[in-house]
Amino acid sequence: MYCVREITEDLYWVGGNDRRLALFENVHPIQRGVSYNSYLLLDEKTVLFDTVDWSICRQFLENIKGVLGDKTLDYMVINHMEPDHAACIEEIVIRYPEVQIICTEKASLFMRQFGFDIDGKITEVKEGDTMSFGKHNVVFVAAPMVHWPEAMVTFDTTNGVLFSADAFGSFGALDGKLFNDEVNFDRDWIDDARRYYTNIVGKYGPHVQALLKKAGTIDIKIICPLHGPVWRNDFGYLLDKYDKWSSYEPEEKGVLIVYGSMYGNTEAAANDLATRLVKKGMTNVNMYDVSKTHVSYLISDSFKYSHIVLASVTYNLNIYPPIHDYILDMKALNLQKRTFALIENGSWAPQSGKLMRELIEQMKDMTILDCDMSINSSMKESDEDSIDSIVDSILESMK
Ligand code: FEO
Repeated sequence: MYCVREITEDLYWVGGNDRRLALFENVHPIQRGVSYNSYLLLDEKTVLFDTVDWSICRQFLENIKGVLGDKTLDYMVINHMEPDHAACIEEIVIRYPEVQIICTEKASLFMRQFGFDIDGKITEVKEGDTMSFGKHNVVFVAAPMVHWPEAMVTFDTTNGVLFSADAFGSFGALDGKLFNDEVNFDRDWIDDARRYYTNIVGKYGPHVQALLKKAGTIDIKIICPLHGPVWRNDFGYLLDKYDKWSSYEPEEKGVLIVYGSMYGNTEAAANDLATRLVKKGMTNVNMYDVSKTHVSYLISDSFKYSHIVLASVTYNLNIYPPIHDYILDMKALNLQKRTFALIENGSWAPQSGKLMRELIEQMKDMTILDCDMSINSSMKESDEDSIDSIVDSILESMK
């Protein structure tokens, strides 16, 4: 049974949802599942925009058949070649052997790398090329590194629909609700949208900025991403989030506290710090135990908040391993423009503070407050001045 939604005249969502997958890219937990969006245009020519992950291929093929009816498929535009969207290209070619694939030169190279038999089926396009499918005219816009080098987006100049590939996507399956105005995005979706963007595309902020500049020059009416809700209003909200994330500007003045604690003593110091911050009026504080929080959530909040406090026990004369991994992940994703405060703990040779400082200093535009705190085994009354100094430094730096 096919299950589709009409986006606008002639255009249908023919994607599907996967709520079984535990880890997106086999890395990131997706408790709310994920949608793989694909779109089918019925013009004088019929055009499919991207395919879906292999896991939902059967539903996808039923959807296409349901919308096409007796028509054949003339074109398949491939904006992005990552297999969560490209897995079913060959399946489409087998079922619709007349189909022509429209993609960038690099995308066709990737198709061959993945072993697809697409000889004689490719029409290569590049930045600014246009094509008419009847009533609908489209322009192809290069979007390298959003999120792979071959990526492009396609803009339908007839109805203002932007097929935005991974840009403006989100983790989360669609519960029948396809459009942004059918959900409470700021309540139910923003955390997954941020976690998706920051972990998947976060490293490529300058490329996203370049795409946002191009998007600012066209009259967009609908944004059709490859994951998550389709946007048909409130673009300012979404573009503002993307502008902040891709320029590494914090969304909020607030404090993210991430602690690594073996027996609860470093955790106690982190709790004490959070309490003192709140007592002095800074209530926008969020705290995580690094050992039981997947790093994708930490990365997401690191992009959200202006200040990050790292509290790490010393472990094998090094940083506590999960804190170490988290810092390396921030570095790998190119996070910038944050203010850090550091707390170390150790029973005989505390040095995680010095080592964390060295790593953070290798990152771009990071500020480390000059109030490092060193605890010997457990926090005591004699440490109160140090922790007050962290609180005061954080609040002062927020002015
Ligand atoms: Fe959703 Fe980069 O693929």
